[in-house]
Amino acid sequence: MEVTPTLKKSLVLFPLLVVVLLGPGWVHSSLSQESQADRFYRQHIDPDNPFGNKTSYCDVMMWRRNINWYSCKKLNTFVHTSRATARAVCREKLTACRNGTVNCHKSRSSMRITQCNLKGGSKYPNCAYWSTQRTAHILVVCDGNSSKPIHFDSSV
Ligand SMILES: *[C@@H]1O[C@H](CO)[C@@H](O)[C@H](O)[C@H]1NC(C)=O
Ligand SMILES: *[C@@H]1O[C@H](CO)[C@@H](O)[C@H](O)[C@H]1NC(C)=O
Ligand SMILES: *[C@@H]1O[C@H](CO)[C@@H](O)[C@H](O)[C@H]1NC(C)=O
Repeated sequence: MEVTPTLKKSLVLFPLLVVVLLGPGWVHSSLSQESQADRFYRQHIDPDNPFGNKTSYCDVMMWRRNINWYSCKKLNTFVHTSRATARAVCREKLTACRNGTVNCHKSRSSMRITQCNLKGGSKYPNCAYWSTQRTAHILVVCDGNSSKPIHFDSSV
């Protein structure tokens, strides 16, 4: 097929139109193409902890990291460490996850974490959270091939 100038123009304009029309939906589809490890880092790793010990931390972060899509996630944990340190947990030997399946790796040291618990009665899109900071060991599931964390199991 020959590409006419008009077609060329529409080939350029079309992606722009898609972005404008679909907005967040387009962002969502690009999120669904991210790797499992990148998804883990987005949802669970925050080395900066820019809000420190503030009650609004979870309300801000659950939106900033695009964690609430069409519903309010009930529980999410942020770990205040680097990606490299989180990844190093995958080098620890396998241990039992919270449900008893021996599929998890447990951090040797305890880490600073913030747990975000959905407040009772809050309805999407008004997801409101309790932010609780503490230090704990984390349990993660890793991808056997890449040795990267892909699932946050629990903290103990
Ligand atoms: C937040 O900081 C206050 C005062 O420094 C402290 O008493 C409290 O335990 C902290 N809360 C959490 C959840 O870390
Ligand atoms: C690991 O690699 C094997 C072989 O390339 C593949 O079949 C498997 O799906 C991979 N596992 C994961 C979790 O990516
Ligand atoms: C138990 O939990 C781990 C991680 O949270 C998961 O990988 C595993 O599939 C679960 N096992 C069962 C039997 O549901």
